[in-house]
Amino acid sequence: MPELSRNCKRRAVPDNVTDPKGLGRQGKAQTREPGDLPDTIEFRGRGLPPEWLVREPRVRARRHFVASLAYSRARHAVTKQIETDERRAVLLIAKSAFAAAPHADMARLVGVMAERRPDAVVRYAFTEQGTPSLRDALLALVGEGCSHVSIVPLVLPMEPSFQIWLEKVIRRWRSEDDRPWPDMAITTQIAASSVMAALLADLVASAKPIDPAVDQKLLAEGSLVPDQKRRALVCQGGPCNGAGADAIWCHLRNEQQRLKLRTTGDGTMTAKSTCLGPCNLAPVVQVFPEGTYYGGVTEAAIDRIITEHLLGGTVVEDFAYHPTGRKQRLRPPQIPSFPNP
Ligand code: FES
Repeated sequence: MPELSRNCKRRAVPDNVTDPKGLGRQGKAQTREPGDLPDTIEFRGRGLPPEWLVREPRVRARRHFVASLAYSRARHAVTKQIETDERRAVLLIAKSAFAAAPHADMARLVGVMAERRPDAVVRYAFTEQGTPSLRDALLALVGEGCSHVSIVPLVLPMEPSFQIWLEKVIRRWRSEDDRPWPDMAITTQIAASSVMAALLADLVASAKPIDPAVDQKLLAEGSLVPDQKRRALVCQGGPCNGAGADAIWCHLRNEQQRLKLRTTGDGTMTAKSTCLGPCNLAPVVQVFPEGTYYGGVTEAAIDRIITEHLLGGTVVEDFAYHPTGRKQRLRPPQIPSFPNP
């Protein structure tokens, strides 16, 4: 439980103030000129995580006034947490990021959000490809004991199916996890935001000219024809998407990159596809050259398909569905539920 000094007086620097320029603690003001004040002062509750760090901008005022203000704000933040035992989080999500620049963009947005919401943990995640994945980020927040998570998809326009998928996949992850989960909220009306007009005007003003000429250099270079023997197709049809195919795709792509699947074993390439046929077995993944259908695929199933099928050459029968000429239903999951850390 976070603590505050009981002895702090109104004008004293609180115990929980980090005082980078030696402004002193507990009581009397030192004889510094206002010009000696630091650019920022930082304070946090004892025992609180780093996200609770609060920075105050440079204030050219008498030192004891600054300390008093800092103390009152720190006390307010810490007391609020003690009283409500709340730990809020904001999760900004985008679809994919491959290069460093979009990751840096997301980190910048996290910084902007954190300034607005110093009371909340702010993170980012990706739903299709990029790390951290939405699942990893969400489970981390669950592990940290967050009581509320607000998910903000930075997706425009946002298809209704994306929101449906998001809710379904969160429900599934929750059902696989024994720990207490936080309350969740999802932003859905991004295009209707009251600041959208200003944002669009700003984006138009910052547009850069491009050269529409055909890139002759690229045409001359040509392309390598891939020699990978294996293909894993992840269905992105409506029923599969509704059953969480995007999260499966995200996990497969991240694992493909981590394990270097393109150049390991027979070499595997992955791709999204339209409906693969057996929609009621959603989410569906098909692995070639065997053409094996996998149904009810989860992240844990993907791990086994990678290890046993893509790298080991053996079909994972627990999740495989072979053509029988008759309709088949999803079998109960054959995997253990998500373990507690
Ligand atoms: S939508 Fe995936 S198999 Fe039809």
